[in-house]
Amino acid sequence: MTNKISLVLNGETVKTDCRPDTTVLEWLRGERLLRGSKEGCAEGDCGACSVLVRRAGEENYSPANSCIMLMGQLEGGNLTTVEGLAASGPDGHEVQQVMAENGSSQCGFCTPGIVCSLAGLMDRNQSPSDSDIHDALAGNLCRCTGYRPIVEAAHAAAAAATAKSDVLQASKVDLDPADGVGDDGCRFYLPKTLQELVGLRAEHPDAELLAGGTDKALAVAHAKERWPKTISTRNVAELRAINTQDGAIHFGGATTWEEVLPHLEAHWPSFATLVRRFGSTQIRAMGTMAGNLANASPIGDGAPCLIALNASITLANQDGERTLPLDAFFLDYRKSALAADEVIKSVSVPLPTEGEAFRVYKISKRYDQDISTVCGAFNLKLTDGKVTSARIAYGGMAATPLRATSAEDALIGQDLHDAAVLQAAKQAIGSTFTPMTDMRGSAQYRAKVAVNLLDRYVRDISGETVEVMAL
Ligand SMILES: Cc1cc2nc3c(=O)[nH]c(=O)nc-3n(C[C@H](O)[C@H](O)[C@H](O)COP(=O)(O)OP(=O)(O)OC[C@H]3O[C@@H](n4cnc5c(N)ncnc54)[C@H](O)[C@@H]3O)c2cc1C
Ligand code: FES
Ligand code: FES
Repeated sequence: MTNKISLVLNGETVKTDCRPDTTVLEWLRGERLLRGSKEGCAEGDCGACSVLVRRAGEENYSPANSCIMLMGQLEGGNLTTVEGLAASGPDGHEVQQVMAENGSSQCGFCTPGIVCSLAGLMDRNQSPSDSDIHDALAGNLCRCTGYRPIVEAAHAAAAAATAKSDVLQASKVDLDPADGVGDDGCRFYLPKTLQELVGLRAEHPDAELLAGGTDKALAVAHAKERWPKTISTRNVAELRAINTQDGAIHFGGATTWEEVLPHLEAHWPSFATLVRRFGSTQIRAMGTMAGNLANASPIGDGAPCLIALNASITLANQDGERTLPLDAFFLDYRKSALAADEVIKSVSVPLPTEGEAFRVYKISKRYDQDISTVCGAFNLKLTDGKVTSARIAYGGMAATPLRATSAEDALIGQDLHDAAVLQAAKQAIGSTFTPMTDMRGSAQYRAKVAVNLLDRYVRDISGETVEVMAL
C-alpha cells in the first residue's frame, strides 16, 4: 500500500507518491518543473540548491541543501523555493529586489540559493549584523559576482524590512501515517517514540537509520544509492528533547547543531564558536550531534569537544539503555561501540564548574565550511594556580578522536605557568600521536600544530591572546 508524502510547497498542500528516497532537488526539478534551485556539487557544499524548509514542529524556516535532503524528510513539513519567494510580490521578494538593484548577480547560477539563504535570515532575524549576514552566506558559493554586492544587498534588504515577510508562513499538514510513507518497494518510517524507533530497528535490521542526512544522504545524492527502507529519528519525542538535570545538559539524539548552539553559547562559548564554523547554516539546520558521533570519523568536530567536556553517551535498544563515557565509544577508524540494533538516545555534558576553562581550536585550510586538519579541545580546572583536573582531546591526529592522557597526567597537580611543566606536557602530546599525511596536512604539520595548541590555550586562558580568525 502506498502512503503519499504530504507537504506544503510554496503555500500549496501537495501529496506525492514519489519515492521517499528521492532527493528534494530531483523532485523539484523533475516532477514539479521548478528549476530555480540548481545542482552544483550535489554534496551540500555550494548552496546552489538551497531552499527554505520548516519541518513539522519547527518554529522558523531554515535554509537547507535540497540536494542532500530526501522527500521522506519533508513529510508534514513546509517547503519554500525561490519560485515561492518570487511570487510574493510584483517584483519578487524584497531580497530579490535589492539584489537586482545592487548588481548582486552575474551568471545567476548561485543566485536562487543566495536569495533563499538571505530570505531565511531575514525571516529569523529582522536586524542582522554584518557577521550574521556572513554567517548566512557561508554555505553559498558565488564564483563570479564576488561577495561585496551580495553583502551590500543583504544590508539593504535588512534596512528595508520592517517585519517578517508574509510569504514564509507555515501551514499545518496532517502528519505521517504510523507505517511511514512510501510503499513496500521504498518505505520511509517516521516513528514518534523511542519505543517505536527501537522496535523498528529490531524489526528491520536492513533499514538505513537517518537523522539530518548531511553525511548519509550523500550516498543517495552522489553515489545514487537507493534505499528500500529508511527509519528517521527526526520525530522521536525523546530524541528531540534538550534537558538540564543533575548537573548536566542532556542533548537528545535527534537535536540539530542549530538547536544545540544556544546551549553551547551559554556554557561553552568556545564550542559555540566552533559550531558556527561547522558546515554552514544549511548543514547545521539539518545535521545532528548524534549523527556526527555515530559516524565515528577521526575528523568529526563534535567528538574532541565532547570528550574534553567529559560527555557520556546513552545508547538504547529494545532491551533497555546503557551509558558509556564518550571516549570509550570510539573503537577504531569509523568503528564505534554502537550495536546494530542500538540508537543514540542522548549525549550528556556535565555543566562547567568553578575554575574550569574550556577552549577548542579548529585548524582548517578555509575558515568556513571546511573539514578540520586538526581539532584540539582543552578543558583544565585550575584551583589557586594549580591544575586540579585536565582533559585534552584531539581530532585528526589518530584513527579515532583521542585523549592525550599522558599530557593530562603531566599537568595535574602542577603549576600551569611553570615552563618545565608545560614543556613536559607538550612532549607528552608529541609522543602520544603518530598522525598521518593527507591532502589536508602533513604528519609533521599536524604534530607541530597539536603541540602548539597547548601553548595557545595557556595564553588564551591567561588573557594573553585574542581570538584569531584563522583558528
Ligand atoms: C558541506 C558539509 C559540511 C560539513 N562540515 C562539517 C564540519 O565542519 N565538521 C564536522 O564534524 N562535520 C561536518 N560535516 C558532516 C556532517 O554534517 C556532520 O557529521 C553531522 O553532524 C551529521 O549529522 P546528521 O544528522 O546529518 O547525520 P546522518 O547523515 O543523518 O547520519 C550519519 C550517521 O549517523 C547515524 N545516526 C544518526 N543519528 C543516529 C542516532 N540517533 N543513533 C544512532 N545512529 C545515528 C546514521 O545512521 C549514519 O550512519 C559536513 C557535511 C557536509 C555535507
Ligand atoms: S548542489 Fe551544491 S549544495 Fe546542493
Ligand atoms: S553569479 Fe555566477 S556564481 Fe554567483
